[in-house]
Amino acid sequence: MQVIFTASPEFAQIALAEIQKLDRQSKFLQWLDQGIGLIELGEVTFSDLAPQIAVTRSAFVRHLCPVLETVPLEKLQTTLSSLIPVIDRTQSLSIQIRAISKEVNRSELRNEFANDLIAAGLNVVVKDPVQIVSIFCSSNIAYIGFSTAAENLSSWTGGMHRFAHEAGQISRAEFKLLEAIAVFNLTLPTQGRALDLGASPGGWTRVLRQIGLSVVAVDPGDLADALHSDPKVSHSRQLVQQYVPNCRDRFDLIVNDMRMDAADSAKNMRAASQVLKPGGLAIMTLKLPGKGVKAIINTAIAILENSYEIIGVRNLFHNRQEVTVVMRSLAE
Ligand SMILES: C[S@@+](CC[C@H](N)C(=O)[O-])C[C@H]1O[C@@H](n2cnc3c(N)ncnc32)[C@H](O)[C@@H]1O
Repeated sequence: MQVIFTASPEFAQIALAEIQKLDRQSKFLQWLDQGIGLIELGEVTFSDLAPQIAVTRSAFVRHLCPVLETVPLEKLQTTLSSLIPVIDRTQSLSIQIRAISKEVNRSELRNEFANDLIAAGLNVVVKDPVQIVSIFCSSNIAYIGFSTAAENLSSWTGGMHRFAHEAGQISRAEFKLLEAIAVFNLTLPTQGRALDLGASPGGWTRVLRQIGLSVVAVDPGDLADALHSDPKVSHSRQLVQQYVPNCRDRFDLIVNDMRMDAADSAKNMRAASQVLKPGGLAIMTLKLPGKGVKAIINTAIAILENSYEIIGVRNLFHNRQEVTVVMRSLAE
């Protein structure tokens, strides 16, 4: 079975190595575009790939889709129609199209196919589909796949999780936290207290306030003006290393987006686990320099595992040179 995998272009080689480590019999075929690779699986089935990626904490494969048919572009429409009988009518379905060819009009193609599907009685949706028909168009070939959103690791085209800009948004970093909540399917507490480490200018603090938490924002830097008047935001203008050892509060959630060496940031999170309520969730980013990223992640995770159960590690669409780690306090 051929599979198209997608990663951030700068981490595409690492993503490929992650899949090759999971499936030693797999054969890399070609790069279809920046960060988009085609691989032939050997011993692992497509449906086993996403669970294996989760178990092995492979962080850089962002999206997968199977290739069931490879056809010349001019045969795409007829091939798509032949797919209709295999689709489960009881479950929602999305059509996700990526194209590097300028010849392909994606919205026209999507509309035509959607009309056929709707006429056949299928439940075509844009958001949160259960099933996905994936179409990748290169210059002259279309790769067609059909799978579930869970198998694809993401319900978004190529794992490109888009959020609308909101009035009042403080930083682009907000998207990272929103994406982590969506990708890891997290249920955050809607009341209580959150600790935001490295909070300035306050994007994550704003997201946590919207969820309903009161927030202690720790950062020597300034918070956006809009947060100054919020009585449920308290700004502790100091370093985390100064704040945490003297903290008497207990928190329902800790987040950390500090610009800091990954192992040092992990050590600070280990110290901060003392102020997290038993079983509480923590979300952090690990900043990655250019080289040796796997070793850096492994070192940081080993530090974190003293105090947390690791739920997931992933380079998200809105992460740049970093991965997001989600974990839960081991304290009972
Ligand atoms: C990427 S920004 C955080 C953005 C924030 N999450 C948002 O949504 O607006 C990183 C922040 O980490 C802070 N930082 C770096 N080292 C720190 C430390 N030792 N203690 C507290 N904050 C620190 C920096 O001052 C900077 O404001």
